[in-house]
Amino acid sequence: GRVTVVGAGNVGMIAAMRLAESDLIDEVVLVDIAGQRAAGIALDISHASPLLGFSTRVRGVTTVAEAGRSEYVVITAGRARTPGMSRSDLVDTNAAIVGALTADAVAVSPDAVLLVVTNPLDEMTQHAWQVSGLPTERVIGMAGVLDSSRFRALTALAADTSPRQVSAFALGSHGDEMVLPLSQVTVDGGPITESLPASEVDGLVDRTRNSGAEVVGLLESGSAFFAPGLSAARMVSAMIRETGEVLAATVAPRGEYGIRSGYVGLPVRLGRGGLAEIVELPLTDVELRDLRTAAERIAERVGALEA
Ligand code: NAI
Repeated sequence: GRVTVVGAGNVGMIAAMRLAESDLIDEVVLVDIAGQRAAGIALDISHASPLLGFSTRVRGVTTVAEAGRSEYVVITAGRARTPGMSRSDLVDTNAAIVGALTADAVAVSPDAVLLVVTNPLDEMTQHAWQVSGLPTERVIGMAGVLDSSRFRALTALAADTSPRQVSAFALGSHGDEMVLPLSQVTVDGGPITESLPASEVDGLVDRTRNSGAEVVGLLESGSAFFAPGLSAARMVSAMIRETGEVLAATVAPRGEYGIRSGYVGLPVRLGRGGLAEIVELPLTDVELRDLRTAAERIAERVGALEA
């Protein structure tokens, strides 16, 4: 099979490298509008195939059409944040880019699953779905895998344990209405409150919510890309390998958690055809309320984008 990664910028190149390295796919194609950039990145990644021991071919082109029919299309093209910018400052520019690329992707690969990464993530995912005409199962956004990983990494450091010993799901929006249901967090097999004081836990949640901005502030230019690129690759691998693991992803619920319309971050199982199942975790009333509020805020922003 083939995976197309649109946007050979920071996030796209890491996602492509990781997918190539996983050796699950015949071909990974990078697409970038910027000159020969995608070809250059693709050649560079392919030079690492003996080092990493993969046989996946990596190719770089300038249009989605040249990439050819693909099972999965990962959309990372667009502008990234610069210091002082919020994710939503990017909305109009990136909606035009994501909309056009989605139409191109569906024309070449009518059976593909689209994985949207471009920010503002929640709005771009729903926008891509609307443009695509595809069933919602086949248009998914990447945010929760990254945000959950950030929380787990920070919590593991604070609790002096391994990240593998921390389980957590970041739901809601990729931004201010991120919901981190603490009722579902375990550290070393027990509730987080057994490992860390409540005040420290609140600090970890806040730091997770602001992790993107924290990285933007530290970098001279650009925004986070290692964990984001790896998160996108992880989602594609979970679909191809049908791991059945529960991951947080931006999807369209049909009544799960009492939410009936729009896209929002929820725990899911992915399959070869995209969204296989939304997993209903036993959230507390407050967590459920926050999740529904997140869904409403996303719907408002999507409404403003269409207006
Ligand atoms: P980047 O600026 O390094 O790369 C973006 C690439 O897209 C550039 O190479 C550019 O030439 C290309 N591009 C622009 N328009 C295009 C078009 N029409 N066709 C093909 N390629 C096109 O940015 P980076 O750091 O890779 O971020 C990409 C996007 O991902 C940004 O919107 C960023 O905010 C978002 N992002 C989302 C995350 C998430 O959790 N969902 C996490 C990190 C970044």
